[in-house]
Amino acid sequence: MRAQDEFKVVIGSEELKTRIQELGGQISRDYRGRNLHLVGVLRGALPFTRDLSRAIAIPHGVDYVSVASYSGTRTTGRVQLRMRARDPILAKDVLIVEDIIDTGTTLDWLVGYLQTLGPRSVKTCCLLDKPARRKVPAPTDYVGFPIDDLFVVGYGLDYQEKFRELPYISCLSPREVLM
Ligand code: IMP
Ligand code: MG
Repeated sequence: MRAQDEFKVVIGSEELKTRIQELGGQISRDYRGRNLHLVGVLRGALPFTRDLSRAIAIPHGVDYVSVASYSGTRTTGRVQLRMRARDPILAKDVLIVEDIIDTGTTLDWLVGYLQTLGPRSVKTCCLLDKPARRKVPAPTDYVGFPIDDLFVVGYGLDYQEKFRELPYISCLSPREVLM
């Protein structure tokens, strides 16, 4: 059985591609003449950051940070910085690239942290947004797709480090949780 047969597709790869092209176009127009610097959040946002960067038609930097707050399908509410960004962001127009905003804890913390490093601006671009789960009012400047309160995997998103490799966004069923 192929992976495609086992998982319910929530957002297909063509749909992802089209939306990421649109976001890239919008960001290219909004940041023209500025010092755009993408900061992708590892590990979940790695495929999204790479594809978004390719869809952006103006010069920009790409860097990554790594944070952790999740264990299984539950947020711990505490955010840990596992890896700092390599490049200085002083006077840069930082755009945080995140896979998903759920409670808002991670993004809120990250915006606050990056703001202490002297950037000219900090905005956010999230592929997925679960507005029903929000606890902390983190800024969502660009959103790929609002989604229902489902635990999703694929295209970088994991459940216990599994399913990141799926080329589409899929919904995790109780059967997969038991695997
Ligand atoms: P927040 O801090 O609650 O907003 O959670 C954000 C982080 O939790 C994201 O960066 C993801 O790594 C993870 N996360 C939240 N919801 C999901 C999901 O449905 N699938 C996989 N990871 C998720
Ligand atoms: Mg993440």
